[in-house]
Amino acid sequence: MNIPTQRLTPDAQGLSAATAFLRAGALVSFPTETVYGLGADARNGTAVARVFEAKGRPSFNPLIVHLAQVAQARGLVVWSDAAEVLASAFWPGPLTLVLPLRPRHGLSSLVTAGLDTVALRVPAHETAQKLLRAFDGPVAAPSANPSGKISATTADHVMAGLSGRIAALLDDGPCPVGLESTIIGLDGADPVLLRAGGLPQEAIEAALGLPLALPAGTSITAPGQLSSHYAPGAAVRLNAREAKAGEVMLGFGAMPCTLNLSETGDLAQAAANLFDHLHRLDAMERPIAVAPIPDKGLGRAINDRLRRAAAPR
Ligand code: TXA
Ligand code: MG
Repeated sequence: MNIPTQRLTPDAQGLSAATAFLRAGALVSFPTETVYGLGADARNGTAVARVFEAKGRPSFNPLIVHLAQVAQARGLVVWSDAAEVLASAFWPGPLTLVLPLRPRHGLSSLVTAGLDTVALRVPAHETAQKLLRAFDGPVAAPSANPSGKISATTADHVMAGLSGRIAALLDDGPCPVGLESTIIGLDGADPVLLRAGGLPQEAIEAALGLPLALPAGTSITAPGQLSSHYAPGAAVRLNAREAKAGEVMLGFGAMPCTLNLSETGDLAQAAANLFDHLHRLDAMERPIAVAPIPDKGLGRAINDRLRRAAAPR
């Protein structure tokens, strides 16, 4: 695969070029408030197949479908009271809802990996919104990184991983949240937290008025939960108070370190920096020690990503 990847600016000209690529079944990376997505027309099976090819992703992993507006969701899935509560509270935003598909939904079965549910998200990022409105249809988009690698939160990360494999990239600077969306399963009796992410679990539980269940058993309902996901090349050691000889250190709070997620101990700032700092430390090709991160609010999602980065592989 060697396609010249066009780097587009998020102005009228860039957006219309990006829209034309999507209509033609080509791949376009675009920013969202969480991470950069690798977008394809969700109704076009060939386009969706190119996403798996570009990422080198196992084909059993279903993709998130991005929509401009909540109203588009109702045509694709069986809507519910819980979906209404969460969509009105948090869409557009860093939340993905898994819901039962309706008949004649029109999505490629590759998007859902043959499941009878689909993951939907209405992103808030201005450029994502403009692209989705101009395209006027569902856009399947996983995070814009090669499979198993760290998610991309800047245009440079996207280019480093996917240049030559995608038609275009809309470059609109760093992603403000920096962590993937929180995924909630609404296809069973109780809402289930499938992936911790950019929207804190506590906020979702407050809106629903009940605690979220965790996925039952050992079956992987969100295969992005495979343990060694988000892996840098080097070994990662968690809950480190300080670097050992030869290690680089990812800090949190005031401390000596190579790079600091947030000197003031701000979890939102840490989330926004997480993947960029991991990319930069990874480039130093030395083992990475990581300071302890408080396990509350966004800290839970950060710790989830760090545990995956540290998992044996
Ligand atoms: O913030 C995000 O969610 C980013 C941006 C681009 O929107 N996207 C993202 O996509 O993180 P991806 O493909 O890297 O992760 C999607 C996750 C995977 O773990 C996948 O297994 C899960 O969503 N998923 C998708 N469809 C599902 C379904 N029907 N049931 C359960 N899990 C599903
Ligand atoms: Mg991903």
